[in-house]
Amino acid sequence: MTATTPAPKLGGNAGMSGSDYLEIRGLSVSFDGFKAVTDVDLTVLQGDLRFLIGPNGAGKTTLIDAITGLVPATGSAQKAGVELLGKKVHQIARLGIGRTFQTASVFEQLSVLQNLDIAAGARRSALTMLRRRTSVLPSIEEALELTGLGDLRDRPAGVLAHGQKQWLEIGMLLVQNASVLLLDEPVAGMSAEEREETGNLLRRIGGERVVVVVEHDMDFMRAFASSVTVLAAGKVLSEGTVEQVQADPKVQEVYLGTTAAIGTALEDEISVPSKESV
Ligand SMILES: Nc1ncnc2c1ncn2[C@@H]1O[C@H](COP(=O)(O)OP(=O)(O)O)[C@@H](O)[C@H]1O
Ligand SMILES: [Mg+2]
Repeated sequence: MTATTPAPKLGGNAGMSGSDYLEIRGLSVSFDGFKAVTDVDLTVLQGDLRFLIGPNGAGKTTLIDAITGLVPATGSAQKAGVELLGKKVHQIARLGIGRTFQTASVFEQLSVLQNLDIAAGARRSALTMLRRRTSVLPSIEEALELTGLGDLRDRPAGVLAHGQKQWLEIGMLLVQNASVLLLDEPVAGMSAEEREETGNLLRRIGGERVVVVVEHDMDFMRAFASSVTVLAAGKVLSEGTVEQVQADPKVQEVYLGTTAAIGTALEDEISVPSKESV
Protein backbone atom coordinates (compact mmCIF):
# COMPACT_ATOMS: atom_id res chain seq x y z
CA MET A 1 0.00 0.00 0.00
CA THR A 2 1.47 3.36 -0.98
CA ALA A 3 1.64 6.41 1.27
CA THR A 4 -0.75 8.26 -1.02
CA THR A 5 -3.48 5.64 -0.72
CA PRO A 6 -6.05 6.69 1.88
CA ALA A 7 -5.71 4.07 4.58
CA PRO A 8 -8.86 1.98 4.95
CA LYS A 9 -10.38 2.45 8.36
CA LEU A 10 -9.46 -0.88 9.81
CA GLY A 11 -9.21 -1.98 13.39
CA GLY A 12 -6.66 -4.63 12.60
CA ASN A 13 -9.37 -6.93 11.35
CA ALA A 14 -11.70 -6.34 8.43
CA GLY A 15 -15.19 -6.19 9.84
CA MET A 16 -14.22 -4.62 13.15
CA SER A 17 -14.76 -0.94 13.97
CA GLY A 18 -17.65 -0.52 11.56
CA SER A 19 -15.48 -1.04 8.51
CA ASP A 20 -17.09 -2.46 5.45
CA TYR A 21 -15.58 -4.89 2.99
CA LEU A 22 -16.40 -7.20 0.13
CA GLU A 23 -14.81 -10.60 0.30
CA ILE A 24 -15.15 -13.04 -2.57
CA ARG A 25 -13.78 -16.56 -2.33
CA GLY A 26 -13.71 -19.30 -4.93
CA LEU A 27 -16.52 -17.72 -6.91
CA SER A 28 -17.45 -19.53 -10.13
CA VAL A 29 -20.21 -19.03 -12.68
CA SER A 30 -21.08 -21.49 -15.44
CA PHE A 31 -23.43 -20.99 -18.36
CA ASP A 32 -24.44 -24.41 -19.70
CA GLY A 33 -21.05 -25.85 -18.86
CA PHE A 34 -19.11 -22.80 -20.09
CA LYS A 35 -17.11 -21.36 -17.18
CA ALA A 36 -17.45 -17.59 -17.44
CA VAL A 37 -15.93 -17.02 -13.99
CA THR A 38 -13.61 -19.54 -12.35
CA ASP A 39 -12.56 -19.65 -8.72
CA VAL A 40 -12.23 -15.88 -8.24
CA ASP A 41 -10.88 -14.50 -4.97
CA LEU A 42 -11.26 -10.77 -4.46
CA THR A 43 -11.12 -8.65 -1.32
CA VAL A 44 -11.96 -4.96 -1.45
CA LEU A 45 -11.86 -2.82 1.67
CA GLN A 46 -13.72 0.34 2.51
CA GLY A 47 -11.81 3.35 1.20
CA ASP A 48 -10.19 1.38 -1.61
CA LEU A 49 -10.99 2.43 -5.17
CA ARG A 50 -10.54 -0.91 -6.89
CA PHE A 51 -10.44 -1.10 -10.65
CA LEU A 52 -11.43 -4.39 -12.27
CA ILE A 53 -10.00 -4.60 -15.75
CA GLY A 54 -9.66 -7.29 -18.36
CA PRO A 55 -10.35 -8.00 -22.03
CA ASN A 56 -13.87 -8.28 -23.40
CA GLY A 57 -15.46 -11.49 -22.24
CA ALA A 58 -13.14 -11.78 -19.22
CA GLY A 59 -16.13 -12.20 -16.90
CA LYS A 60 -16.20 -8.75 -15.28
CA THR A 61 -19.91 -8.15 -15.76
CA THR A 62 -20.71 -11.77 -14.88
CA LEU A 63 -18.82 -11.37 -11.61
CA ILE A 64 -20.93 -8.31 -10.74
CA ASP A 65 -24.07 -10.17 -11.83
CA ALA A 66 -23.14 -13.02 -9.49
CA ILE A 67 -22.52 -10.73 -6.52
CA THR A 68 -25.83 -8.96 -7.09
CA GLY A 69 -27.84 -12.17 -7.47
CA LEU A 70 -28.59 -11.92 -11.20
CA VAL A 71 -26.82 -15.16 -12.09
CA PRO A 72 -26.33 -18.25 -9.91
CA ALA A 73 -22.80 -18.80 -8.66
CA THR A 74 -20.86 -21.15 -6.43
CA GLY A 75 -18.30 -20.16 -3.83
CA SER A 76 -18.74 -17.24 -1.52
CA ALA A 77 -19.32 -13.49 -1.72
CA GLN A 78 -19.62 -11.73 1.61
CA LYS A 79 -20.26 -8.15 2.58
CA ALA A 80 -18.76 -7.56 6.00
CA GLY A 81 -19.22 -11.23 6.81
CA VAL A 82 -22.76 -11.57 5.46
CA GLU A 83 -23.11 -14.14 2.67
CA LEU A 84 -24.72 -12.78 -0.50
CA LEU A 85 -24.74 -15.84 -2.75
CA GLY A 86 -28.08 -17.58 -2.69
CA LYS A 87 -29.99 -14.45 -1.72
CA LYS A 88 -32.51 -12.74 -3.98
CA VAL A 89 -31.64 -9.61 -5.96
CA HIS A 90 -33.75 -7.33 -3.75
CA GLN A 91 -32.34 -8.83 -0.54
CA ILE A 92 -28.81 -8.19 -1.77
CA ALA A 93 -29.73 -4.61 -2.71
CA ARG A 94 -31.21 -4.13 0.76
CA LEU A 95 -27.94 -5.27 2.29
CA GLY A 96 -26.33 -2.23 0.67
CA ILE A 97 -24.90 -3.65 -2.53
CA GLY A 98 -25.53 -1.26 -5.41
CA ARG A 99 -24.56 -1.69 -9.02
CA THR A 100 -24.80 0.20 -12.27
CA PHE A 101 -25.15 -1.31 -15.71
CA GLN A 102 -23.13 -0.71 -18.86
CA THR A 103 -26.07 1.26 -20.20
CA ALA A 104 -27.65 3.81 -17.87
CA SER A 105 -31.05 2.80 -16.58
CA VAL A 106 -32.74 5.97 -15.36
CA PHE A 107 -36.40 6.90 -15.85
CA GLU A 108 -36.01 9.26 -18.78
CA GLN A 109 -39.40 10.98 -18.48
CA LEU A 110 -39.03 11.69 -14.78
CA SER A 111 -36.99 14.51 -13.30
CA VAL A 112 -33.64 14.02 -11.62
CA LEU A 113 -35.35 14.56 -8.28
CA GLN A 114 -38.12 12.08 -9.05
CA ASN A 115 -35.55 9.47 -10.04
CA LEU A 116 -33.75 9.96 -6.75
CA ASP A 117 -37.03 9.90 -4.86
CA ILE A 118 -38.00 6.58 -6.42
CA ALA A 119 -34.60 5.15 -5.55
CA ALA A 120 -35.00 6.38 -1.97
CA GLY A 121 -38.54 4.98 -1.96
CA ALA A 122 -37.12 1.52 -2.29
CA ARG A 123 -36.31 1.94 1.39
CA ARG A 124 -39.47 3.72 2.46
CA SER A 125 -43.11 2.84 2.89
CA ALA A 126 -45.68 4.23 0.45
CA LEU A 127 -47.13 6.33 3.25
CA THR A 128 -43.83 7.98 4.08
CA MET A 129 -43.35 8.68 0.41
CA LEU A 130 -46.76 10.28 0.21
CA ARG A 131 -46.10 12.46 3.26
CA ARG A 132 -42.71 13.52 2.07
CA ARG A 133 -43.82 14.14 -1.48
CA THR A 134 -43.21 17.86 -1.39
CA SER A 135 -40.06 17.96 0.69
CA VAL A 136 -36.62 16.76 -0.32
CA LEU A 137 -35.06 14.13 1.89
CA PRO A 138 -31.65 15.00 3.37
CA SER A 139 -30.16 11.92 1.72
CA ILE A 140 -31.39 13.19 -1.64
CA GLU A 141 -29.97 16.67 -1.02
CA GLU A 142 -26.69 15.00 -0.20
CA ALA A 143 -26.75 12.89 -3.37
CA LEU A 144 -27.53 15.99 -5.47
CA GLU A 145 -24.62 17.76 -3.86
CA LEU A 146 -22.19 14.85 -4.27
CA THR A 147 -23.09 14.22 -7.91
CA GLY A 148 -23.19 17.92 -8.80
CA LEU A 149 -26.71 17.52 -10.19
CA GLY A 150 -28.34 20.06 -7.85
CA ASP A 151 -28.99 22.64 -10.57
CA LEU A 152 -30.54 20.00 -12.80
CA ARG A 153 -32.89 18.56 -10.19
CA ASP A 154 -36.07 19.49 -12.07
CA ARG A 155 -34.87 18.50 -15.53
CA PRO A 156 -36.18 15.29 -17.08
CA ALA A 157 -33.45 12.66 -16.82
CA GLY A 158 -33.87 12.00 -20.55
CA VAL A 159 -32.34 15.35 -21.48
CA LEU A 160 -29.24 14.86 -19.32
CA ALA A 161 -25.88 14.40 -20.99
CA HIS A 162 -24.53 10.86 -21.05
CA GLY A 163 -22.17 11.54 -18.15
CA GLN A 164 -24.87 13.17 -16.08
CA LYS A 165 -27.07 10.09 -16.44
CA GLN A 166 -24.30 7.92 -15.05
CA TRP A 167 -23.89 10.35 -12.15
CA LEU A 168 -27.64 10.19 -11.54
CA GLU A 169 -27.42 6.40 -11.41
CA ILE A 170 -24.64 6.65 -8.88
CA GLY A 171 -26.76 9.18 -6.96
CA MET A 172 -29.62 6.67 -6.95
CA LEU A 173 -27.32 4.11 -5.34
CA LEU A 174 -26.26 6.67 -2.74
CA VAL A 175 -29.83 7.44 -1.65
CA GLN A 176 -30.42 3.69 -1.38
CA ASN A 177 -27.60 3.73 1.16
CA ALA A 178 -25.48 1.40 -0.92
CA SER A 179 -22.17 0.95 0.85
CA VAL A 180 -20.73 -1.40 -1.75
CA LEU A 181 -20.83 0.11 -5.25
CA LEU A 182 -20.15 -2.05 -8.29
CA LEU A 183 -19.91 0.20 -11.33
CA ASP A 184 -19.85 -1.42 -14.75
CA GLU A 185 -17.89 0.77 -17.17
CA PRO A 186 -19.18 4.06 -15.77
CA VAL A 187 -17.08 6.29 -18.02
CA ALA A 188 -17.66 4.47 -21.32
CA GLY A 189 -18.62 7.04 -23.93
CA MET A 190 -17.79 9.99 -21.67
CA SER A 191 -15.77 13.03 -22.69
CA ALA A 192 -12.38 13.59 -21.06
CA GLU A 193 -13.92 16.26 -18.88
CA GLU A 194 -16.75 13.97 -17.78
CA ARG A 195 -14.24 11.24 -16.95
CA GLU A 196 -12.32 13.61 -14.75
CA GLU A 197 -15.55 14.66 -13.01
CA THR A 198 -16.52 11.02 -12.56
CA GLY A 199 -13.14 10.16 -11.09
CA ASN A 200 -13.48 12.98 -8.60
CA LEU A 201 -17.00 11.82 -7.74
CA LEU A 202 -15.69 8.30 -7.12
CA ARG A 203 -13.02 9.71 -4.83
CA ARG A 204 -15.60 11.73 -2.91
CA ILE A 205 -17.85 8.75 -2.34
CA GLY A 206 -15.12 6.11 -2.13
CA GLY A 207 -13.68 7.03 1.26
CA GLU A 208 -16.67 5.71 3.15
CA ARG A 209 -17.65 2.96 0.77
CA VAL A 210 -16.37 -0.12 -1.00
CA VAL A 211 -16.07 0.80 -4.68
CA VAL A 212 -15.32 -1.56 -7.57
CA VAL A 213 -15.04 0.06 -10.99
CA VAL A 214 -15.02 -2.06 -14.14
CA GLU A 215 -13.11 -0.08 -16.70
CA HIS A 216 -11.35 -0.25 -20.06
CA ASP A 217 -9.87 3.23 -20.14
CA MET A 218 -6.26 2.92 -18.99
CA ASP A 219 -5.68 6.65 -18.52
CA PHE A 220 -8.73 6.83 -16.30
CA MET A 221 -7.54 3.81 -14.34
CA ARG A 222 -4.07 5.22 -13.84
CA ALA A 223 -5.47 8.54 -12.66
CA PHE A 224 -7.90 7.20 -10.10
CA ALA A 225 -7.32 3.54 -9.15
CA SER A 226 -5.87 2.83 -5.73
CA SER A 227 -5.61 -0.84 -6.65
CA VAL A 228 -6.31 -3.03 -9.65
CA THR A 229 -7.49 -6.58 -10.26
CA VAL A 230 -7.02 -8.01 -13.74
CA LEU A 231 -9.47 -10.65 -14.89
CA ALA A 232 -8.81 -12.77 -17.99
CA ALA A 233 -10.79 -15.75 -19.22
CA GLY A 234 -12.77 -15.75 -15.97
CA LYS A 235 -9.76 -15.91 -13.65
CA VAL A 236 -7.78 -13.40 -11.63
CA LEU A 237 -4.63 -12.88 -13.64
CA SER A 238 -2.96 -10.20 -11.56
CA GLU A 239 -3.58 -7.84 -8.69
CA GLY A 240 -1.80 -4.90 -7.10
CA THR A 241 -1.12 -1.23 -7.62
CA VAL A 242 -1.41 0.24 -11.11
CA GLU A 243 2.37 0.06 -11.43
CA GLN A 244 2.57 -3.54 -10.29
CA VAL A 245 -0.17 -4.69 -12.61
CA GLN A 246 1.20 -2.85 -15.62
CA ALA A 247 4.63 -4.31 -15.02
CA ASP A 248 3.25 -7.85 -14.81
CA PRO A 249 4.32 -9.80 -17.93
CA LYS A 250 1.12 -11.89 -17.76
CA VAL A 251 -0.95 -8.73 -18.03
CA GLN A 252 1.17 -7.38 -20.85
CA GLU A 253 0.75 -10.62 -22.74
CA VAL A 254 -3.03 -10.67 -22.40
CA TYR A 255 -3.45 -7.04 -23.32
CA LEU A 256 -0.92 -6.82 -26.10
CA GLY A 257 -2.65 -9.75 -27.71
CA THR A 258 -6.14 -8.30 -27.50
CA THR A 259 -6.07 -4.52 -27.45
CA ALA A 260 -3.69 -1.68 -28.04
CA ALA A 261 -5.08 0.22 -25.06
CA ILE A 262 -2.77 -1.07 -22.36
CA GLY A 263 0.05 -1.26 -24.89
CA THR A 264 -0.02 2.52 -25.25
CA ALA A 265 -0.47 2.85 -21.52
CA LEU A 266 2.58 0.67 -20.97
CA GLU A 267 4.69 2.62 -23.43
CA ASP A 268 3.75 5.83 -21.61
CA GLU A 269 4.68 4.16 -18.37
CA ILE A 270 8.04 3.02 -19.68
CA SER A 271 8.89 6.54 -20.87
CA VAL A 272 8.42 7.75 -17.27
CA PRO A 273 11.61 7.17 -15.27
CA SER A 274 10.70 4.48 -12.76
CA LYS A 275 12.24 5.24 -9.38
CA GLU A 276 10.25 2.84 -7.37
CA SER A 277 10.47 -0.59 -8.95
CA VAL A 278 10.24 -2.99 -6.04
N1 LIG B 1 -26.14 -15.18 -19.87
C1 LIG B 1 -25.08 -15.73 -20.46
N2 LIG B 1 -25.17 -16.92 -21.08
C2 LIG B 1 -24.10 -17.48 -21.68
N3 LIG B 1 -22.88 -16.93 -21.72
C3 LIG B 1 -22.72 -15.73 -21.13
C4 LIG B 1 -23.82 -15.05 -20.48
N4 LIG B 1 -23.35 -13.88 -19.97
C5 LIG B 1 -22.05 -13.82 -20.30
N5 LIG B 1 -21.68 -14.92 -20.99
C6 LIG B 1 -20.33 -15.22 -21.47
O1 LIG B 1 -19.47 -15.16 -20.35
C7 LIG B 1 -18.23 -14.56 -20.70
C8 LIG B 1 -17.98 -13.35 -19.82
O2 LIG B 1 -18.87 -12.31 -20.20
P1 LIG B 1 -18.89 -10.92 -19.46
O3 LIG B 1 -18.96 -11.16 -18.00
O4 LIG B 1 -19.98 -10.11 -20.06
O5 LIG B 1 -17.48 -10.31 -19.83
P2 LIG B 1 -16.91 -8.83 -19.63
O6 LIG B 1 -17.90 -8.04 -18.84
O7 LIG B 1 -15.60 -9.02 -18.92
O8 LIG B 1 -16.70 -8.30 -21.01
C9 LIG B 1 -18.33 -14.23 -22.17
O9 LIG B 1 -17.73 -15.27 -22.89
C10 LIG B 1 -19.81 -14.17 -22.42
O10 LIG B 1 -20.11 -14.49 -23.75
MG1 LIG C 1 -18.95 -6.29 -19.34
